[in-house]
Amino acid sequence: MKNRKSIVRNQVATDVSNLSRGFTERTIDPSYMDRPDTREAYGAYYGEVSHAKGESLGREILRRASPRLFRKDRLRMLDLGAGTGEFSQGVATALLSEFSGPLDLHLVDRSAGALSHAINAAKDPRLFISVTRATLPEERPFLPGSFDIVTMANCLAENDHRDESFAGLLEEVSNTLRPGGILLLVEPADKRSSRTLLSLGDLLLSRHFPLTLLAPCPGGRTASCPALAHPDDWCHEDRPADFSETLLKMADSLGHIKDALKMTYLLFGQDGAPFPSALRLVSPLHKEKGFFSGDFCDGNHWWRIRLLNRNRSDLTRSFTRLHRGETIEAPLGGLLRSGSPRDRRGAMDWSKELPVIRLAHPDGQPFDREEGL
Ligand SMILES: C[S@@+](CC[C@H](N)C(=O)[O-])C[C@H]1O[C@@H](n2cnc3c(N)ncnc32)[C@H](O)[C@@H]1O
Repeated sequence: MKNRKSIVRNQVATDVSNLSRGFTERTIDPSYMDRPDTREAYGAYYGEVSHAKGESLGREILRRASPRLFRKDRLRMLDLGAGTGEFSQGVATALLSEFSGPLDLHLVDRSAGALSHAINAAKDPRLFISVTRATLPEERPFLPGSFDIVTMANCLAENDHRDESFAGLLEEVSNTLRPGGILLLVEPADKRSSRTLLSLGDLLLSRHFPLTLLAPCPGGRTASCPALAHPDDWCHEDRPADFSETLLKMADSLGHIKDALKMTYLLFGQDGAPFPSALRLVSPLHKEKGFFSGDFCDGNHWWRIRLLNRNRSDLTRSFTRLHRGETIEAPLGGLLRSGSPRDRRGAMDWSKELPVIRLAHPDGQPFDREEGL
């Protein structure tokens, strides 16, 4: 006979499976965060993943933001579509590892149930949580506010026909950021969610947007996202991650693979350090008969680059070790222009004499010199 623990576990797994289907098929019941059973299922499964994504991106903020962001007595953060707050608490965990003052975190969501759960949860003693119930993007009682960091994670996917109105909201919020301020937008890695976020990013950049795109695009992109040039393309992260046994067991029982942080993100800043000019691998690295190949983005174009086995040398061997999201030094002149563009992308062979220099991991952490070669 099944014991109570396993019945409860099975019920959570069923709720997670229904949530997952609802998210993918865009049929989610908007009250899911108000119902304790589905809210708990969300927390048990997606909460841990969201926290890990927040921490990873929080570390990226530490790396990329302007030092002006941290020259304050306390930081003020706003999280839109916050749910139970795991994502922004992950960001806060990373920030508080370097910032010694307190952090005020204001959570906004349409679900009163999610917000009351967030406010009662255990948290870092330097984290001060407040909440506002509001349906975005129209209801904006938290404005005018002045925040240092604004985040919105996995909310647009539930509102993907509303990008114009969300762009208006984000523009307004960005105009009130304090010195060195940051806007971080994150969505799931699937094609539809990713393209929705990338389109929203283009919409923001096409307006009088006060912020610079710091990541993930190399070279501080200002023009349209090249992934949107073709309906089959999109761009997402696939960062290695370790999850708890409980989460891995549940993922396994649902037939999900949980071995990485999969997400699409855009990190904007008032100032700070955009990715320098580089080539970023935006696909897996394919090993095929006679060559390795991958799609690379320089912020303006996508390029399919091959390394033929006969061109493998001490100078080029790093190519065969590349992972999605890593950047390499863009060759000065020559290679990119001289390749004969095939189909919709430039396609070219990397030459034996041209060193492959790995610059940074997907989160912007530089390779040390030895590692990079
Ligand atoms: C998938 S959850 C994400 C929660 C959290 N940001 C995370 O990444 O874990 C989406 C959240 O957005 C909220 N939400 C969706 N559409 C909203 C809207 N139009 N206005 C306010 N909240 C909304 C939902 O209630 C839910 O809590």
